[in-house]
Amino acid sequence: MFDIRPTVSSRRIAVIGSGYVGLTLSASLALLGHEVECTDHSLERITQLAQGQLPIVEEGVAEVVGQMLAAGRLRFASDNGLAAERADFVFLCLPTPMGADGWADLSFVQKVAAEIGPRLRPGATVITKSTVPVGTGEMVRDTLARDDVQVASNPEFLAEGSALRDCLHPDRIVVGASSEAVARNVADLYGPFAHSRLILTDIPSAELIKYASNAYLAVRLTFVNSMAEICETTGADIRSVVAGMGSDHRIGKAFLRPGPGWGGSCFPKDTEALVRTAGSLGCDLSLVETAIAANARHTQRVVNKVAAIVDGQVAGKRIAVWGLTFKAGTDDRRQSPALEIARQLVALGASVHAYDPTVPAGIVQGLEVHSSAISACRDADALIVGTEWAEFRSVDLAVLGAVMSRRVILDTRNVLDPGAAVSEGFTYAGIGIPTQAPAEQDAGVAV
Ligand code: UDX
Repeated sequence: MFDIRPTVSSRRIAVIGSGYVGLTLSASLALLGHEVECTDHSLERITQLAQGQLPIVEEGVAEVVGQMLAAGRLRFASDNGLAAERADFVFLCLPTPMGADGWADLSFVQKVAAEIGPRLRPGATVITKSTVPVGTGEMVRDTLARDDVQVASNPEFLAEGSALRDCLHPDRIVVGASSEAVARNVADLYGPFAHSRLILTDIPSAELIKYASNAYLAVRLTFVNSMAEICETTGADIRSVVAGMGSDHRIGKAFLRPGPGWGGSCFPKDTEALVRTAGSLGCDLSLVETAIAANARHTQRVVNKVAAIVDGQVAGKRIAVWGLTFKAGTDDRRQSPALEIARQLVALGASVHAYDPTVPAGIVQGLEVHSSAISACRDADALIVGTEWAEFRSVDLAVLGAVMSRRVILDTRNVLDPGAAVSEGFTYAGIGIPTQAPAEQDAGVAV
């Protein structure tokens, strides 16, 4: 249970959009003590939310939503205009998907701004929370067409799987506005704890901070995955390399885990959108362009590693895949490297049997999804660990070995214990670490 005693003086807030960001923000603001109305254009979604049923898997959010509904501090509705009429602050938490040409598609933001503009009460503040390209604040201001209304940018930095924690205990709260007073009013919504972590700035800087952070992290991961390839080629171990790098306080330990490539609903679209923005401004962002291309090549390299561990021929092989989401702790499969690898294996003629704790058994994009980690591995020629779900670490390797046709693992997240796998007779390959095989087997599998 969360402590639901208000910690701030209550304000009336509308949150438009009930995706990961809108829902987590609504729950957090209500928890802090505000009166929150969260809207969505999907009536079905609103009806379910009003009953406390969440459309996403996100730790803690369902619990807080339930508590806040019961406390009467949170409600769900479908009328954006009515919610805007009642609110002092309106947060835009709308999707900004990647458009056909790589640009962020701002049509949802524009449509809602046009819809709520005439309905806002004088003195209200409209805050863009969605990730939007630099300059969008101006567009929102123009579309609202209201001189008596303030506009601000307050980008979210929450990561799926830790969204509530990130929202309630952020590293920083960034607020961009045309005056410090407006920015402070928005910051005050987060309560006194926000002030030590506050960055007040202008709107374009706030918009750019979000893109710069995501692009930087994506480039960092591509760097690590490239180092992992060098490790595999030289016999070095990426785990030691990142431990050494991360001990330098200027680098830091976080976000240095190699994997099958970065994905999800943010990094791919945000890096593309930033590259488009830079291009349109005549600025050079070839570093990020290179990282995007290298990330795709890295995922392809993982598919090639799968081929190598099944004797060079994927067609006709039975391959188990653990994890289909883009990372652990979420049910989100958007731009998931694990799913992409599984799909490519199907396209190469493999029979792919998957397990993911968030995906019900059945057929998903040509893959047969099983209801347990072990049943997905029955008669498999190899197991690919695609997502770092904690439960994979506790699977009994002796049972696993007994059901598989060949004891071969490619762990793209380096989460299993290689020593334990080898002592159960597995050949174990990871990303950026030396492949290990039982003494009596050929340790020279070319991965
Ligand atoms: C990201 C940002 O972290 C967040 O601040 C922003 O608001 C939205 O985008 P999210 O997409 O939820 O959040 O996932 P994140 O945890 O950042 O991971 C992104 C990708 O990088 C995933 O594919 C993940 O598996 C991968 N990753 C992350 C690694 O491969 N190694 C790491 O060390 C960290």
